[in-house]
Amino acid sequence: MAIDGPAAAGKGTIARAVAAAFGFGYLDTGLLYRAVGREVLEGAEPLAAARALTVEDLARDGLRTSDVGAAASKVAAIPEVRVALLDFQRAFARRAGGAVLDGRDIGTVICPDAEAKLFVTASDEVRALRRWQELRDAGEEITAEEVLETLRERDARDSARAAAPLKPAGDAIVLDTTALSIEAAVAAAKAHIERALASR
Ligand code: DC
Repeated sequence: MAIDGPAAAGKGTIARAVAAAFGFGYLDTGLLYRAVGREVLEGAEPLAAARALTVEDLARDGLRTSDVGAAASKVAAIPEVRVALLDFQRAFARRAGGAVLDGRDIGTVICPDAEAKLFVTASDEVRALRRWQELRDAGEEITAEEVLETLRERDARDSARAAAPLKPAGDAIVLDTTALSIEAAVAAAKAHIERALASR
């Protein structure tokens, strides 16, 4: 299952709920880029950091901060970095029992043959508010306006890059979560996946 979309649209929440409901493995592919971005902030060279990435690196603390998110978006624009992270994602996608991957290019590049594709989106303001609440709960001192600005910068960079830009796959269903509760968004995603599985 491929779940793509811009930052803080609800992809992760939906992907986790879908994985739990259907018994699939779950990979948050943003963590790969965040782990590389974090290494780069600590002085590493992006491609070397991507090639040396291990599963343990995905469990490191501090990957969810806004600074690491911005660094992730920058390293994610480097084509060779994306290539270095491809095999790990494809191997995860093929795991027995099924898998859900969320990111920016899962339905377009990583898993073009995914059995179900969702593109999860929401208005900039609602996404910024959700992300601001998460960051504030995690102890980060940042205003909602700053979050909105960095989120727009990140989306613009993720959408404008030449390598695997953020965009819905032609066969993805678009799910706008602006006015949806978590429960309603998860229910809509599950219904789409059930339909996709039934029509196999
Ligand atoms: O989903 P996230 O906010 O944790 O992702 C962090 C950055 O990583 C995002 O701004 C762009 C990049 N990314 C990507 O280019 N491709 C993916 N499949 C996932 C994330």
